[in-house]
Amino acid sequence: MAPADCTSGDPAQDPLARARLAMVTGQIAARGVKDPRVLDAMRAVPRHEFVPATLREDAYGDSPLPIGHGQTISQPYIVALMTELARPSPSDRVLEVGTGSGYQAAVLSQLVARVFSIELVDPLAQSAASTLRRLGYANVTVRSGDGYLGWPDEAPFDIIVVTAAPEEVPAALLAQLKPGGRLIVPVGRVWDVQDLQLIEKDASGRVTTRSIIPVRFVPLVKRRDS
Ligand SMILES: C[S@@+](CC[C@H](N)C(=O)[O-])C[C@H]1O[C@@H](n2cnc3c(N)ncnc32)[C@H](O)[C@@H]1O
Repeated sequence: MAPADCTSGDPAQDPLARARLAMVTGQIAARGVKDPRVLDAMRAVPRHEFVPATLREDAYGDSPLPIGHGQTISQPYIVALMTELARPSPSDRVLEVGTGSGYQAAVLSQLVARVFSIELVDPLAQSAASTLRRLGYANVTVRSGDGYLGWPDEAPFDIIVVTAAPEEVPAALLAQLKPGGRLIVPVGRVWDVQDLQLIEKDASGRVTTRSIIPVRFVPLVKRRDS
């Protein structure tokens, strides 16, 4: 779903828009992401609106960036790869765990019907919700809370994207995945290299797991009661 107020800019006039197109060609398509809808979404969403004002000029570089509270906005290639692995379709309902800046939610929102995104750090949830609202991403709902438990009131989901790393796949997330659904999650030890996994639940509820690539994410915080 396109935002009501699209700020993607005219590449002829706007250096940030040119940098964004170069990011898609040089960092994302060049590494093998092929889904044209995903590439279009990455071309459309203004990443510079989701980073701190002092880092706008760096927004289209090939790296994660700090967003405050010890957290990061993920590398653009990883956002595109996770989105492609999710195989989003226009009728899908998606849960994102780890809203952070709101950027991954904005990318997903272009490709699916609804995005529900949950963030543990309340000031990040507030600021992401306000950015998404300002930019017109009306099909995203952000909530402050513990995503280890998923979002039971809105479950089940066609897609669950986890953008922080648990040591083990949270049982609640698997339970909230529809038959036929995809769960994309980096699994592994805190502050170590993790394994980006694509977990699929078939129509009979059987789960298969595929390792995609090694990645490094901030930890998915597990509260004692999670
Ligand atoms: C790598 S950042 C997410 C990047 C984000 N998807 C973006 O596009 O900017 C990981 C986020 O997960 C959040 N997080 C960590 N543990 C969490 C939990 N149990 N529930 C919800 N969010 C959590 C962190 O606070 C952080 O904002």
